[in-house]
Amino acid sequence: QGCKLVGCGSAVPTLKVSNDDLAKLVDTSDEWISVRTGIRNRRVLSGKESVTTLAVEAARNALQMAQVDPDDVDLVLMCSSTPDDLFGSAPQIQKALGCKRNPLAYDITAACSGFVLGLISAASHIRGAGFQNVLVIGADALSRYVDWTDRGTCILFGDAAGAVLVQYLLSSVPTEGCVPARETSMIKPGLHIQEFGGSDGSNTQMRIPNGHLYFVPISLTSACDSEEDGLFGFDLHSDGDGQRHLNAPIKENEMDNTLGSNGSVLDFPPNRSSYSCIQMNGKEVFRFAVRSVPQSIESALAKAGLPGSSIDWLLLHQANQRIIDAVATRLEVPPERVISNLANYGNTSAASIPLALDEAVRSGRVKVGHTIAAAGFGAGVTWGSAILRW
Ligand code: ACO
Repeated sequence: QGCKLVGCGSAVPTLKVSNDDLAKLVDTSDEWISVRTGIRNRRVLSGKESVTTLAVEAARNALQMAQVDPDDVDLVLMCSSTPDDLFGSAPQIQKALGCKRNPLAYDITAACSGFVLGLISAASHIRGAGFQNVLVIGADALSRYVDWTDRGTCILFGDAAGAVLVQYLLSSVPTEGCVPARETSMIKPGLHIQEFGGSDGSNTQMRIPNGHLYFVPISLTSACDSEEDGLFGFDLHSDGDGQRHLNAPIKENEMDNTLGSNGSVLDFPPNRSSYSCIQMNGKEVFRFAVRSVPQSIESALAKAGLPGSSIDWLLLHQANQRIIDAVATRLEVPPERVISNLANYGNTSAASIPLALDEAVRSGRVKVGHTIAAAGFGAGVTWGSAILRW
């Protein structure tokens, strides 16, 4: 089963914080920040804004572009490391969007790689489990975990949300070779595609386009996806060893306060826990990104069977303009084919790729049929790439 990106949207907080504003908080300057990072402004949550309100606005915009009703969404994937609720925000977003069929909704935590992982997960749910309309949202508010006295990190981050609607490719359903299904009892309301073993023991797929039920031989389905498929190559990695260079761990001293010398619980209820501010070894993160990302994109391209020259756009997680430039140079992608909006928003973690994509689509730079090499990288450490067709 093929899948396609059919809508995108984004949302940013109203409060704009410039480099000059930060120079009033810490010993820095607009020149130092813009030369070292490319960042000039960032947006920061204020008032009643939250990660959830931004995510809902971005998702609504994506649904509107796709002209898909919230009731037709059957999966919401919320990619965030800073949810408003420790247990995740996806079901709250599902509720706020008014998805009446109560679609499955859950969170994915993978820092700045979250959105790429969400896209691959969406495609897997569509290809393997019969989902039709999957909302992938990347939303983060790292401003909540920044030490605003640490000039090495507070200059980098901003808050935002972006979303993409990934849809199953209806046009990939073949008309020849399908046979009407006999097991009509297998039809489930709202589920249009299911996989089953064939009655003759062979592997077949059952599809229900427009309410009609068919068995489709797998050999036919794999032949009809490639032309319009919107996600056709990916590469994902993680390495826990890199966590020491970028993290925001739970505060150990607060946990320890609840334990006696022999390890027993002294007080009940135990102290509340909270997370440390972001700690980062910038140079190591820089090296990791410049080393890993080009390899990952090359690997995703190889899996897609495409040469590097076929990329219309390079769209990296927006962390630092020097990282973006170094990766583009390594891949021989000229600057005019590199998407960057880092100057306006800083590093918005899982939101950065869909936010930049949304701006590029709405401004007309990214057009239908364009091929995009997208790559995320960040804490964990995790990194990965996806070759997309808009
Ligand atoms: N303003 C002025 N001076 C500063 C500032 C600042 N904001 N920050 C650091 N400095 C100083 C340092 O104190 C140091 O001074 P010293 O030489 O007197 O000791 C000097 O500048 C050099 O500091 P470095 O940390 O070595 O600066 P570097 O050139 O490495 O740049 C930066 C720092 C911009 C953070 C860079 O390492 C970087 O961008 N790394 C990648 C970070 C990143 O992308 N993180 C996020 C990715 S993952 C994710 O998205 C969660």
